[in-house]
Amino acid sequence: MTAQDPVYVADSLIAQDIDAYLLKHQHKTMLRFITCGSVDDGKSTLIGRLLYDSKMIFEDQLASLEADSKVSGTQGGDIDFALLVDGLAAEREQGITIDVAYRFFATDKRKFIVADTPGHEQYTRNMVTGASTADLAVILIDARQGVLTQTRRHSYLVNLLGIKNIVLAVNKMDLVDYSAERFYEIVADYSHFARQIGMDSFLPIPISGLKGDNIVTKSPHMHWYQGPTLLGHLEDAPVNDTRMQDRPFRMAVQWVNRPHLDFRGFAGQVSAGTVRPGDPIRVLPSGKVTTVKSIATFDGDLAQAVAGQSVTLTFADEIDCSRGDVIVQADAPCETADQFEATLVWMSDAEMLPGRPYLLKIGTQTVSATITEPKYEVNVNTMEHLASKTLGLNAIGVVNISTDRPVPFEAYADNPDLGGFILIDRMTNATIAAGMLHFALRRSQNIHWQSTDINRDAHAAQKNQRAKVVWFTGLSGSGKSTIANIVERKLHAMGKHTFLLDGDNVRHGLNRDLGFTDADRVENVRRVGEVARLMSDAGLIVLTAFISPFRSERRMVRDMMAPGEFLEVYVDTPLEVAEARDVKGLYKKARSGQLKNFTGIDSPYEAPEQAELVVNTVALSAEDAADRVVAAILSQG
Ligand code: ADX
Repeated sequence: MTAQDPVYVADSLIAQDIDAYLLKHQHKTMLRFITCGSVDDGKSTLIGRLLYDSKMIFEDQLASLEADSKVSGTQGGDIDFALLVDGLAAEREQGITIDVAYRFFATDKRKFIVADTPGHEQYTRNMVTGASTADLAVILIDARQGVLTQTRRHSYLVNLLGIKNIVLAVNKMDLVDYSAERFYEIVADYSHFARQIGMDSFLPIPISGLKGDNIVTKSPHMHWYQGPTLLGHLEDAPVNDTRMQDRPFRMAVQWVNRPHLDFRGFAGQVSAGTVRPGDPIRVLPSGKVTTVKSIATFDGDLAQAVAGQSVTLTFADEIDCSRGDVIVQADAPCETADQFEATLVWMSDAEMLPGRPYLLKIGTQTVSATITEPKYEVNVNTMEHLASKTLGLNAIGVVNISTDRPVPFEAYADNPDLGGFILIDRMTNATIAAGMLHFALRRSQNIHWQSTDINRDAHAAQKNQRAKVVWFTGLSGSGKSTIANIVERKLHAMGKHTFLLDGDNVRHGLNRDLGFTDADRVENVRRVGEVARLMSDAGLIVLTAFISPFRSERRMVRDMMAPGEFLEVYVDTPLEVAEARDVKGLYKKARSGQLKNFTGIDSPYEAPEQAELVVNTVALSAEDAADRVVAAILSQG
């Protein structure tokens, strides 16, 4: 940079009149990009140089700048996969730190936001968060090191997230004597990998962040390089992705706008295609059809709206439509399904547990979802598929996933808004994975719920009782089976129709393939929950006696039942007492190390927080405890 170069001279307006400065930048296009690489690749130096050479604006000023650009009608498109960011923002409000800093700078040509995912930890989640809104990615490589695992992982993710514009910045060229040979060696190496992961193209640039070579001005040391400088490329790279505009119309409903009785509008951001008044549309998942009456915005009605615009649609007919629904072109709807294949990027320390209910946020709706089948994990170095039953922190894998409701969707590759999702832990509210839908499993289209004439109420009425599930939980040896057994005897004597599902018994048959890892316990309880639910459909009072150590799965079973038909009984026996009793001699084995993953010893037990009934077996005999349970069952009606 030189003082004669008018483009990059620090703008004195910032100090004098920030409003004038912001106004000056308001109508420029904005490029969002991410820099990624591995530790010590010189990322901070590079970003520092870009900011320094173009004069940075601080983050609070950015907010007002962005607000301005919305009012002036700048089209979106830079808010791709925004729900991921929403999820992470929600998390931030709860005080969980996210290590992505967004830095702003501008040149005379363009504004830039760079997602800076700082140094040492390089957690995948930071990178995914930053990349989720980026138009372009700069993959930074230390010329001395070449392509590393982290380079591959980040490139794989960037490609997976659909970023088309990729710069391979080979940094620290000064430390390899500006060697063309070294540069082309790295480029060849990376090309090979890029082909493997299906990356269409990338632009390699030899740079030195420290010395400034090929950052803003052409390097005098590398005449063999004929391409653009890094900043030159950042200024010219396309930002407005027009691909989405040529597709059939799609808009997820963000909220229903009903300021008065005569106006009912459906607000959202158009994610694909074009919409005009008079267009026939369909609301998914219901499939109801009507036509668009008007397209409202703050500045009045529009004759049309295209992908990227935020608008409010009104309909010609009063049809049902609510938040989470997707409005589509009537004769070109997207699919709706409840079972999918998807790629997951796992971002949590707690490993993925197939069968556990997670919240899945897609488009503008949140549903409950479970991983039904882990298929494989991807080794980012070799692209090999490794058989895996779970995913740990930073792992990338392919799974089958099922939702509790039909979801209108598109493949992520076709439409990131309707194919990108995040998974949220229901207990901690943390974002634990980012995902991309591939396709619906055919079975989800071909299996329909069959309603039968003799339903659960008819079954229960004939037995003259209300069907329910009485769920006993507690440590091994706490007395669950003993008490449940007495309860069943008493109910039976009263003429009630019951059935007792007991942990040790079910594990001899239906669940004989399951052990005691966290994943197996989740699956154990899931299956028992489904069986208990079916038996209650038959009109029975079902008693279950399982340790069922996790709140999440107990809650899942609770959610399967109607209010008042699920009764959680916490058999509260302190570990010392259960261990002293040691009816089956298992605690002794666990203490001596012969038995692994034993609940209360080296496997967790999460005590209920809101059980309908707590029975303390130290204070009460089994008989008295059973009386209380029976009383609770009868008082529920
Ligand atoms: S759960 O955790 O998946 O709900 P479940 O109730 O089915 O467990 O089975 C618990 C019973 O299995 C215990 O009562 C005990 O008899 C036996 N068992 C064997 N190994 C273990 C273990 N590692 N942890 C707990 N229980 C075990």
